[in-house]
Amino acid sequence: MKLAAPLSILALALACRFAVAASAATDLDEVLRAVPNLEHGAQLFETCAQCHGPHGGGLPSGWVPQIAGQHPRVLAKELIDYRHRARWDDRMEKIAGRHLLTVSQDIADVTAYVASLAPARTGTVGSGEWLGRGRHLYEAHCRSCHGADGEGDNAKFVPRVAGQQCEYLLRQLHDAVDGRRPNLVRGHVQLLRDLGMEELEGLADYISRLPGSPQHPDERTAAAGPSL
Ligand code: HEC
Ligand code: HEC
Repeated sequence: MKLAAPLSILALALACRFAVAASAATDLDEVLRAVPNLEHGAQLFETCAQCHGPHGGGLPSGWVPQIAGQHPRVLAKELIDYRHRARWDDRMEKIAGRHLLTVSQDIADVTAYVASLAPARTGTVGSGEWLGRGRHLYEAHCRSCHGADGEGDNAKFVPRVAGQQCEYLLRQLHDAVDGRRPNLVRGHVQLLRDLGMEELEGLADYISRLPGSPQHPDERTAAAGPSL
C-alpha cells in the first residue's frame, strides 16, 4: 500500500514523457510531409517580423537570431522543439505552442517562407582578438557537421550558423554549457564545457564571419517540399 502511490505517480510521469515524445515526432513528421503554401507563410511571417525584423535578420543585441535562409527542416525542428518544451523561450513557446502556428501546416508554410528569404550579412562580429583560436577550434570540432563555410545540412537537421549574430551565437554556446538547450546534440556540451571565455568568444566571432554557401533558390523550394 505504501509503495502503490509513488509507483503510480512514476507510471503516470513516464506515460506523460512518452506521450510528449511521441507527439513531437508525429508533429515534425506531419510538418515535413506537408506541401508548403508560401503565400500563407508570408502572411504568418508578418508576426515573426515584429521581433526577427522585416527580412528575418534578427537583432544585433543577441536576443533575437537571424532566421532568414535557415534550412527548412532545421526551422521546423526548432519550432517543434519550442512547441514541446524541448527548447525553452517564453516568446517562442507561445508562438509555436499553437497561439499563432495552430496546425502543422502553418509551421510548414512559415518555415518554407523563412527558408526562402536571403540571409543577410548581419555585420555583427566579435572583436577579432580571439579569431585565430576560434578558427582552429571550428576546423577541429565543428566543421565536420556545420560545414567549411558554416552552411549546415538540411537533410541532417544541422543548422546553418554562418553569419549569425555574434552575440546570439555566444549566448547559445553559454546556454549549451549551462544545460539551457536540453535538446542540443550531446557532443556540444562535451566539446564546449572545457573551453574558456576567450575560446567561446573566438568561436562565435569566427562563425559570425563565415560566408555560408549560396544555394540556388529552386533547390530551396524543392528541399522544403514533400520529397523529404
Ligand atoms: C515576441 C518576439 C518573437 C516573435 C513574434 C517570434 N520570435 Fe522567433 N525568436 C525570438 C527569440 C527571442 C528567439 C531566441 C530564443 C532562444 O534563445 O532560444 C527566437 C528564436 C527563434 C528560432 C530559433 C533560431 C535559432 O537559430 O536558434 C526560430 C526558428 C524562430 N525564432 C522562428 C520564428 C518564427 C517562424 C516566428 C513567426 C511565426 C517567430 N520566430 C516569431 C523572438 C520572437
Ligand atoms: C555531430 C555534429 C555536430 C558537431 C560536431 C557540432 N554541431 Fe553544432 N549542431 C549540430 C546540430 C544537429 C544542431 C541542431 C541541434 C538542435 O537545435 O536540436 C547544432 C546546433 C548548434 C548551434 C545552435 C544553432 C541554432 O540555430 O540555434 C550552435 C551555435 C552550434 N551548433 C555550434 C557548434 C560549435 C561551435 C561546434 C564545435 C565546437 C559544433 N556546433 C559542433 C550538430 C553538430
